[in-house]
Amino acid sequence: MKIMHDFKKIKSNILSQIENSTELDDLDMVRVSAIGRKGQITELMKTLRDLEPNERKDIGQQLNLLKKSISDAINIKRKLLEEKNINLQLSSETIDLTLPVENSELGFIHPISQVIDEIIIIFGQMGFVVAEGPDIEDDWHNFTALNIPEEHPARQMHDTFYLGKKKNSENLHLNKVLRTHTSPVQVRTMLTQSPSIKIIVPGRTYRSDSDQTHTPMFHQVEGLVIDESTNMGHLKGCLVNFVSSFFGLKNLDYRFRPSYFPFTEPSAEMDIGCVRKKNEIQIGGAEDWLEILGCGMVNPRVLENCGIDSKKYQGFAFGMGIDRLAMLKYGMPDLRSFFDSDLRWLRHYGFMPIDSPGMPGR
Ligand code: DAH
Repeated sequence: MKIMHDFKKIKSNILSQIENSTELDDLDMVRVSAIGRKGQITELMKTLRDLEPNERKDIGQQLNLLKKSISDAINIKRKLLEEKNINLQLSSETIDLTLPVENSELGFIHPISQVIDEIIIIFGQMGFVVAEGPDIEDDWHNFTALNIPEEHPARQMHDTFYLGKKKNSENLHLNKVLRTHTSPVQVRTMLTQSPSIKIIVPGRTYRSDSDQTHTPMFHQVEGLVIDESTNMGHLKGCLVNFVSSFFGLKNLDYRFRPSYFPFTEPSAEMDIGCVRKKNEIQIGGAEDWLEILGCGMVNPRVLENCGIDSKKYQGFAFGMGIDRLAMLKYGMPDLRSFFDSDLRWLRHYGFMPIDSPGMPGR
């Protein structure tokens, strides 16, 4: 009876220690002192061997029950404490997404992104769709297919970044370059789609060149229309419409000057009327001319290189510098600052994310 009584006392004592543990560490200390290798109950178990067999059986059973109820109580309490800790952690790590934005830094849309969106919208309204190609091109797509064979002087004009040393003149697809213009996407599109084709290609282009109006990476937009009846009149109409919408001018002075590009025949450059004051150029005057793009009727050789029957199909192409258009439209004097990542510049020339690109908010 004495022993039974002791067991009850021991049990209630340990259970209340378990109950009073507020941290997992405290609970573990209770566990070690009760059922650990040198714990109170473990020690009691060791005394069993000195008892008479009958007594040993009886006391042994009771000790086992005691041990079980204590380890059950510890497990239950451990679960509760773990849950409490997780909840504490969760509540301290929550982020209140409803915080007002007034005091936060505002992000701005880069003028290049804005101008690309403006261009896509205007050409989109004329039925053009956007096409893309890789920045790392191969020699064949960037030059040869566009009727710029090896040793052609136009290759020197492009200040190409060649990737890799080895020149493989048998397989020009193996000679990689950073594309020097968006024109190779014309080739990729004609190789994979059959006419009619009506695409624009805004994208990054690269040439080894750097000064106030040139950066090694810059942006162009290419246009290509191929069908059975497109002619030079359509080309003019399309570009005049684009330029007057882009600059927001109804009566724009423009002219098309004969020019030369290997991939178009005939080729032209488009000039628009402007007024030049010191370092500034104002679009829309009639005092002077400013060249803004190259264009022409797609050279039948390029069509044939891309597997398109040049007796049946014809079309026009054009290409222009996006950065230059952005500088002219928004009065940004130095092209290099476009890529400096200077936040003060971006705050000044950038656009609010909620402005619609179709309606410039400046
Ligand atoms: N690819 C030319 C360049 O980078 C621009 C160009 C001119 C593209 C005339 C054309 C075009 O599609 O018809 O200088």
